[in-house]
Amino acid sequence: MPAASTADAARPRILSGMQPTSDSLHLGNYLGALVNWVGLQDDFDAYYFVADLHALTVPTDPQVLRRRTRATAAQFIAGGVDPTRSAVFCQSHIPAHAELGWVMNCLTGDGEARRMTQFKDKVAKGQSASVGLLTYPMLMAADILMYDAAYVPVGEDQRQHLEITRDLAERFNTRFGETLVVPDPYIVKGAAKIMDLQEPTAKMSKTGSSPKGLIDLMEDPSRIAKNIRSAVTDTDAEVRYDPEGKPGVSNLLVIHSVLSGTPVADVADAFAGRGYGDLKQEVADVVIEALTPFQQRMSTLLDDPAELDRILADGADRAAEVAHATMSRVRDAVGLLPAAR
Ligand code: AMP
Ligand code: TRP
Repeated sequence: MPAASTADAARPRILSGMQPTSDSLHLGNYLGALVNWVGLQDDFDAYYFVADLHALTVPTDPQVLRRRTRATAAQFIAGGVDPTRSAVFCQSHIPAHAELGWVMNCLTGDGEARRMTQFKDKVAKGQSASVGLLTYPMLMAADILMYDAAYVPVGEDQRQHLEITRDLAERFNTRFGETLVVPDPYIVKGAAKIMDLQEPTAKMSKTGSSPKGLIDLMEDPSRIAKNIRSAVTDTDAEVRYDPEGKPGVSNLLVIHSVLSGTPVADVADAFAGRGYGDLKQEVADVVIEALTPFQQRMSTLLDDPAELDRILADGADRAAEVAHATMSRVRDAVGLLPAAR
């Protein structure tokens, strides 16, 4: 057992983060990740952060980054993350992330880093690659290992990052003695995957979807309804859950199901013998009913940035306590001389 067992047995610690790469999360982030984060707060000691250092791997205007960092944190809270129970913080407020990231870089082989699929994909797409992009996974490993996280709730797309995190933790422990907790991924069973409204075989994504294929959480309700009404379906006019054969209709049923808390089969049954127009109208109603209070909470939070910054400062205080303890163990384990004062 690692010396570090700060997570209490009753409520193991979990950690997850999102990059502040847009002003508005989309329905996929919300139903696929955020709703899940909110639910986990009851059973886990949760740490949720805005990965602003990771966002620097892509060139972003400084003003825009600041705005998006606040907006992303506000969306966690508006979506139901409770900052009095869970630590909500900003990655760069804990400089030790970069320090532990450096230690992780020094444990990673050059070829190992270059083989990560996300790096290879981005390079293949012609994105000019900084060394920051190459070492993105090592910084992510540091984020996770800093908090002795037992589980890391992420989507399937992050699985490889979790695997390298486990490898690095084990490598560290083998080389320097048991110091870091090896985390388990927590790829939630049945987590909703929301598809592009116009191209329902591709997942809804900020970068890949057209404006009509996407539902931004901060969008005007009438635009949202319009996008749902023009969602691509199929020609056989039968409401049935069949993701392979009927991806568009199935996506609408999933959206309804997650938001209304009704099993997808029951939603489908309720529309038996009715047309796609009815289904789209009701899905639009359900989405807008959920997003209206979300948008109201967002405007309250964004109207008072000083309060939001205080929430982030409180979260950073909680995070710093854990980070400080981890870094003392790490520095000692690797042989960095403690400062006398
Ligand atoms: P991203 O914006 O791609 O960095 O994703 C942030 C979080 O949202 C990650 O946990 C993703 O797995 C999740 N996510 C992104 N797009 C979708 C989607 N279309 N359906 C479900 N989850 C998603
Ligand atoms: N790479 C993650 C994403 O793009 C964001 C992230 C950064 C993260 N550090 C993390 C997620 C640590 C979980 C844990 O979605």
